[in-house]
Amino acid sequence: QIFFKPIQNTSPPSPTKRHTKISVIGTGNVGMAIAQTILTQDLADELALVDAIPDKLRGEMLDLQHAAAFLPRTKILASTDYSVTVGSDLCIVTAGARQIAGESRLNLLQRNVTMFQGIIPPLARYSPDAILMIVSNPVDVLTYVAWKLSGFPSNRVIGSGTNLDSSRFRFLIADHVDVNAQDVQAYIVGEHGDSSVALWSSISVGGVPVLSFLEKQQIPYEKDALEKIHKAVVESAYEVISLKGYTSWAIGYSAANLARSILRDQRKIHPVSVLANGFYGIGDGDVFLSLPAQLGRGGVLGVTNVHLTDEEAQRLRNSAKTISEVQNQLGL
Ligand code: NAI
Ligand code: 2OP
Repeated sequence: QIFFKPIQNTSPPSPTKRHTKISVIGTGNVGMAIAQTILTQDLADELALVDAIPDKLRGEMLDLQHAAAFLPRTKILASTDYSVTVGSDLCIVTAGARQIAGESRLNLLQRNVTMFQGIIPPLARYSPDAILMIVSNPVDVLTYVAWKLSGFPSNRVIGSGTNLDSSRFRFLIADHVDVNAQDVQAYIVGEHGDSSVALWSSISVGGVPVLSFLEKQQIPYEKDALEKIHKAVVESAYEVISLKGYTSWAIGYSAANLARSILRDQRKIHPVSVLANGFYGIGDGDVFLSLPAQLGRGGVLGVTNVHLTDEEAQRLRNSAKTISEVQNQLGL
């Protein structure tokens, strides 16, 4: 019941732009970092939150709603019941166990697969046309699990993958050569985790291809120095987890960056976890891992043909093998 009508309408409601709804499943550190980035970046008209703990969920919803006066207008809903997600354009899944200090992402698998069996089917039922973005770890295997459990076509199931690792990589390179990270184009591909692969051969800074520039100018560079930067990327999450217990802000921005490309049909290239069979000689069975992919309103629109050296291609296939071996234990 509206008890006060402050505005006297002078025309019928104007046709509005397409209504966009995002659901975030899991309102822990990661889910809330993503939710708050979505709100500040004005990416949705409606944001639905789901978690298994009702009080924490309602608390998070109210806390965000109380920021309404400072944010673009977004309707925020929350429930432990998946009906709240009905009609979502994008569902972002962050629910699940996280690593303790020193634990690998792959170690979380069994706990999170069981959880996904309760999460993905209702999400797919309430939003049969949605795009699923998986963030929970181990993200590549869980993206495969979500694909299987949802029955969605593979172009509508995406893992946040190495979009985050690539941002860490770009930050470290930018810091090293003192430029803006947005001017560094550099990809980490493969597993979001220990077997990820740095594509040194395709790095450019401000349009200058770095390795071929150094080679042409006959400037010597140490392969070891390159390996050290990649190692620092792989160790980034372990370091943050050992210091603050979890990672959240960077994945919040990374997931919102992907949400923007998808929902606004930006057709940008992002390294994300996609069905990778047939690309770069990856062959044995269905496997999801990160490749540079074009994202838009239809989800994954294509995979880029980046030039890989033989060594990079071999490392990528090894990364696929690591993921397949873990996946094969699932029997899905
Ligand atoms: P957290 O423990 O803070 O939050 C997990 C949330 O999931 C909790 O609120 C919990 O109540 C909820 N939850 C548990 N079971 C549920 C169920 N059945 N249905 C709905 N909600 C449920 O953990 P945090 O730090 O938010 O991490 C979440 C996941 O994200 C972990 O698997 C972590 O490894 C992963 N992660 C992935 C990253 C990536 O780049 N892919 C980056 C950072 C974290
Ligand atoms: C991250 O890379 C832990 O996967 C998580 O931040």
